[in-house]
Amino acid sequence: MCGIVGFTGRQDAKDFLLDGLFKLEYRGYDSAGVAVEQPKGGIEVIRRVGMVAELARAVKESDIAGKCGIGHTRWATHGAATENNAHPHIDCSGKIAVVHNGIIENYMELREELTAKGHTFRSDTDTEVIAHLIEECYEGDFVEATRKAISKLRGAYGVAAIHADHPGVIVVTRKDSPIVVASSVKGAFVASDTVAIVEHTRDVVYLDDDNIAVLNPDGHIDFIDADGNAVYPEPVHVEWDAEAAGRSGFPDFMLKEIYEQPRVIRDTLADRLVDGKISFPELESVGNLANDIDSVTIIGCGTSYHAGLIARQLIEKWARIPVSVEIASEFRYRNPIITPRTLVIAITQSGETADTLEAIKQSRGNGAKAVAITNVVGSRATRESDAVIYIKANMEVSVAATKSFLAQNAILAVLALYLAQERGAIPQDEVCKLYGEMQAIPSQIEWILHQTNDIKRCAKACYKAHSVMYIGRQFGDVTCKEGALKLKEISYVHAEAYAAGEIKHGPIALIDDTVPVVAIATKSSTYEKVISNIEEVKARGAKVVAVATEGDEHIKRYTDLVMYIPDIPEYFSPITASVPLQLFAREIAVLNGRDVDKPRNLAKSVTVE
Ligand code: G6P
Repeated sequence: MCGIVGFTGRQDAKDFLLDGLFKLEYRGYDSAGVAVEQPKGGIEVIRRVGMVAELARAVKESDIAGKCGIGHTRWATHGAATENNAHPHIDCSGKIAVVHNGIIENYMELREELTAKGHTFRSDTDTEVIAHLIEECYEGDFVEATRKAISKLRGAYGVAAIHADHPGVIVVTRKDSPIVVASSVKGAFVASDTVAIVEHTRDVVYLDDDNIAVLNPDGHIDFIDADGNAVYPEPVHVEWDAEAAGRSGFPDFMLKEIYEQPRVIRDTLADRLVDGKISFPELESVGNLANDIDSVTIIGCGTSYHAGLIARQLIEKWARIPVSVEIASEFRYRNPIITPRTLVIAITQSGETADTLEAIKQSRGNGAKAVAITNVVGSRATRESDAVIYIKANMEVSVAATKSFLAQNAILAVLALYLAQERGAIPQDEVCKLYGEMQAIPSQIEWILHQTNDIKRCAKACYKAHSVMYIGRQFGDVTCKEGALKLKEISYVHAEAYAAGEIKHGPIALIDDTVPVVAIATKSSTYEKVISNIEEVKARGAKVVAVATEGDEHIKRYTDLVMYIPDIPEYFSPITASVPLQLFAREIAVLNGRDVDKPRNLAKSVTVE
């Protein structure tokens, strides 16, 4: 999705702008640009289609210089990915430059009004209306003009604007789109994501909806609300540092993040058992959640949705509450049955996924309590929900979710135990025993991370396939869904995940010796059934790669290759069995020469519907 950066201060702005845009690359984009105030006056804009590296080359070749500027990476929504549609956009006078994330819903009518008043539009974007609106509202006061302009906008926006007649000032505002600002001795910064700023300062302000931040070159930031009254938001200290944002010697972020998983699970599980009871202080503000509900609805998108599918099995198994799991973009439009006695759990790594946020709003509109499970402090999901549980994944850069998925699974398993405990659905010593079993997971993942040669062998045997089928049952079925998604998104190899017992009702027609099958055949109550399903695909010529339990030699009779995981109760197996599948997908992507961290067409944070 789009990314915003801006800097005003005592040093050249372009280095921060380019560096910030490189850091935002992971969000996905198709063009990029910067606008910088020139020392001799006026604003210079440079935009390029493609990678930030293209833009950086053009900026370096230019004589652009100045201590105040804004930058943007664009992911096209209105108008094709062309240089003309790339941000920043300027007004008719060329004095105002604007970058924008989000969608202006009433841009057509605004564009018609502004055109009738004589404004000339140069792009197909919704964003350009903002530049012309500020121009239209301008009577010498840049901040006031911006305040008036945004009052006419409908939709979602994060906006940063500069004006040649107000050198050194950046005016920033937002609604339903993340914006963070910060000051340091070097000057003042704005970005749509903390990652672009954290190298300079870890004390940041997450701008509230409809508020305006005015950044000054001495680093001072003034804040006003929609009515123009001064407000004084509290800065937030972000825990992670610039080093955490680097690759730390790994060839890509995805691999680094996979290797961080033991630490992430340890942190996520820490301090949840207090005096023999599972503890969620985060839920205290929402009363007797576990007993005031008749059902649970879990909402998410992509990988987060898969975490929800796993959580359903655990909550139903232990807490005996009926659970439905919904893809947020579907949930929103089908008038689901949500009542004040429904607990809604919204799972979102970024906390900014538009469909998930809207689903939260709708659910709360029906009187339900919504608990967000997220990774990002200050994200919109944290503001829109009744309670927030943070996973401890730290920043995840690679588009393909890995460590956040494992952390989601870990915390959801503990939450399932908590609900069971509070409802008295299982004895307390059983709750403690199950929580105790989870403590082995980090070292089990470490063990898997030492088996990469086997995993690489499996990947080598499959990377040329045009399609891969994943099969499993129960917990293995959901593990497959996430495994197949990983393969699709980063390697562009088609992958299909199916409940193993269901393949004979259609998908088995796809099987021949060109379609490898990945089977989750770990120790479980359905192990024998999975073996039968493996035999079915073997009989049709498929090469079978199994994920199996360490020490299971028997499996080798039925399969061509095996990736082992340590022995673990089946209800926790998705957490560990996902790890070889992440590595398998990554290895296939690498063997196919893919850009692992930045898969085509995808974005880390999907802030449009
Ligand atoms: C995008 C990402 C996925 C992610 C999904 C949901 O599609 O590429 O990795 O699972 O969004 O994102 P969320 O931040 O809500 O978990």
